[in-house]
Amino acid sequence: MIVIDFYRTDDKSVGLYDNNAGDIYHSKSGALKEAFEKFINPSLLNTKSKNKDEIHILDICSGVGYNLKAALLSTDKKCKTTIDCLDTNIGLIKLSPFIQDGIDDIDLKIYLLSEVIKEVNYDYSFLSKILNSYAPFLCDDMRRFIEFLLTRGYLTKGLVLNRSFLHNIYYNYISNNMNYTKKCNKYNNINIRYFVGDARQTLNKINHIYDIVFLDAFSPQKDPVLWTVDFLSLIKTKLKNNSVIVSYSKSTPFRSALVELGFCAGKTIIDNKDMGTVASLDNSQISIPLSDYDYKLLSTRTAIPYKDISLSLSAEQIIINRNNDMASSDRISMTQFLKKYY
Ligand SMILES: C[S@@+](CC[C@H](N)C(=O)[O-])C[C@H]1O[C@@H](n2cnc3c(N)ncnc32)[C@H](O)[C@@H]1O
Repeated sequence: MIVIDFYRTDDKSVGLYDNNAGDIYHSKSGALKEAFEKFINPSLLNTKSKNKDEIHILDICSGVGYNLKAALLSTDKKCKTTIDCLDTNIGLIKLSPFIQDGIDDIDLKIYLLSEVIKEVNYDYSFLSKILNSYAPFLCDDMRRFIEFLLTRGYLTKGLVLNRSFLHNIYYNYISNNMNYTKKCNKYNNINIRYFVGDARQTLNKINHIYDIVFLDAFSPQKDPVLWTVDFLSLIKTKLKNNSVIVSYSKSTPFRSALVELGFCAGKTIIDNKDMGTVASLDNSQISIPLSDYDYKLLSTRTAIPYKDISLSLSAEQIIINRNNDMASSDRISMTQFLKKYY
């Protein structure tokens, strides 16, 4: 069930606001821009995919797929790429190929639709609902494409809608450009898998090792369940020594949990500002390491990590437990820290 509002971000891509979580999904300065600046560029995906035969990406909290799409655009097409997408909200996964995302590449959207269809059933009512309720926020060509598929009954006859079938339909009936055969193969080396459910339980069950992990959960202060030392420790079991975790978050409990687990931590600098975190077990993967000041900050009370040993606690309980840990801690407070350093 989608309980979200849409807004247009500064790069014309559509952003989402979750009424339940009281949090935005995407930066107002640009949802697609954020995916490139805070996830793809710091992960060095483009360079890595040029130098490797295969690459494995884990997209935690994939939502409507901005990081996924930016990864599809950035990965070298000769590199065999797998992308595992984890999210609780199946509606967002279904919406992903249709939303106005600022990407012109229609083949990417058709490819994504075929990948989503492989794993998730589209029902008639869902598609009618997105056409009726979200039309202004849908990519125009893809909106016409669903309308066509619905009117022709393709989505209700139980047909196998594979990639080349969708491609042919699109180029025969929606677009006038018949020169499509080559483009249809563009994403052949990429395999996407979707896992619907709480990432804490899902990741436990996936037996896979990743080169790059995108961690794009709601902010730690509002929903710390995927920022705990225990969840990060689970992620660590799915990494190689030179893998990287990339996130938009620069929160001190998150960074201190990474350091506690033995990660080398660095930051993403955008316009001279600290705008995110990169972590790896291998120091050579970190382009901009945390400064001495950043490390000292991690010894304050404010940096005490969130904990969830059973990987099942509610956000509220995790926050209460951390508040108790902070209250009984003899670490220096933030106020004392700031007095000492300024
Ligand atoms: C900030 S948004 C991520 C935006 C996303 N990367 C995109 O491109 O649209 C956070 C996402 O986390 C998902 N989420 C929240 N709690 C989760 C959990 N415990 N496990 C998996 N996904 C979760 C939400 O459904 C939402 O899609």
